Amino acid sequence: MTAPTTPRDPKLHDPQKIAVLPGDGIGKDVTAEAVKVLAAAAERWSLPLALEQLPYDADHFLATGVSLPPGQMERFRDEYAAIFIGAYGDPRIPDMRHAADILLGIRFQLDLFINFRPVKLYDARLCPLKNKSEADVDLVIFRENTEGAYVGIGGNFKKGTADEVAVQEEIHTRKGVERICRAAFDWAVANGKRKVLMSDKSNVMRYGHDLWQRVFFDLAKQYPQIEASHMFVDALCMQLVKAPQQFEVIVANNMFGDILTDLGSALQGGLGVAASANRHPGRVSMYEPVHGSAPKYAGTGRANPMGAILSAALMLEDLGHGEAAREVERVVAAAIRAGETTVDLGGRLKTHEVGDRIAREVAAAAIAH
Ligand SMILES: NC(=O)c1ccc[n+]([C@@H]2O[C@H](COP(=O)([O-])OP(=O)(O)OC[C@H]3O[C@@H](n4cnc5c(N)ncnc54)[C@H](O)[C@@H]3O)[C@@H](O)[C@H]2O)c1
Repeated sequence: MTAPTTPRDPKLHDPQKIAVLPGDGIGKDVTAEAVKVLAAAAERWSLPLALEQLPYDADHFLATGVSLPPGQMERFRDEYAAIFIGAYGDPRIPDMRHAADILLGIRFQLDLFINFRPVKLYDARLCPLKNKSEADVDLVIFRENTEGAYVGIGGNFKKGTADEVAVQEEIHTRKGVERICRAAFDWAVANGKRKVLMSDKSNVMRYGHDLWQRVFFDLAKQYPQIEASHMFVDALCMQLVKAPQQFEVIVANNMFGDILTDLGSALQGGLGVAASANRHPGRVSMYEPVHGSAPKYAGTGRANPMGAILSAALMLEDLGHGEAAREVERVVAAAIRAGETTVDLGGRLKTHEVGDRIAREVAAAAIAH
């Protein structure tokens, strides 16, 4: 990447140019619905959004050998207020090369160190646990997004032989750990939460995860109003299933955050409703549903677009359009409670029917207000 220009706060862009990358499989299906809802919100609140769809997907990669053209990462950084992604993954590209270049490329090269994933149960009927109410499953996970086990440092020795050795390193830096922990504490304070829990495996990972221990509890002293606590990740998985109501904000490294957030999505009704933001506050950030490209569902109308639509709501919030974001979330929650959903949530609607209904309701807010 070339040297950065001074990043402008995305809130201050006018227009707020948004790069839309639908990606592969159901990524295309759900992105079409998120775009409808964004258009309805832009109309209703006169938002300065300028959506620009970009063609970088598996077909593009297979035809050109290029995941993203040279200079695209700099354009994301310098010209756009936000990036919206559907999902990547195509069976014709088994090594996931284009997906890694694009998804991990954006996260790493744009230094989007916060992977923010709310775990919110919108209707108690969707929770696989017995006797849990909406209030029992309402937490957020801050996953470190630029370090840990996902940096791709390692190698093989005697590959393919019986004596093969594989080495894969985890990287944890003080700067990296501190900024994700600080983001979790700051979010808790700003959102009236009282508890932040850090999860690691410092009982066996004596160096990297010990750094997390020291940094987290040192930082906690700056937040006396917050109860800072710790659980080993294995115990946390068990507790999330037994008693999710005890958690408000969880912060974890890249790999543990990845795993915990899938567990979290199951608690809220499945991957179809799980949303995420990949953030670097004050800079261009990226928003995507948690699910993948589910190729077998592509074009069938079975894909639930709610995770994508809720991710678009997170983007609206970060772009300074809090009222629109809250309205989109309220309408999604109402649709879930009314059973107006795709089959994964027990409804009978097709992907585009869910999107149409939500877009219509969001637009109708214009008349009601
Ligand atoms: N961020 C991403 O783009 C991302 C994330 C995970 C997986 N992937 C890729 O996606 C491809 C498929 O992976 P996978 O099958 O392991 O995971 P997946 O999330 O695509 O699908 C797993 C299952 O979850 C359900 N599901 C997922 N999204 C849904 C939705 N919106 N509505 C209804 N049901 C939904 C389906 O039953 C599906 O079979 C692979 O190539 C994988 O590498 C991409």
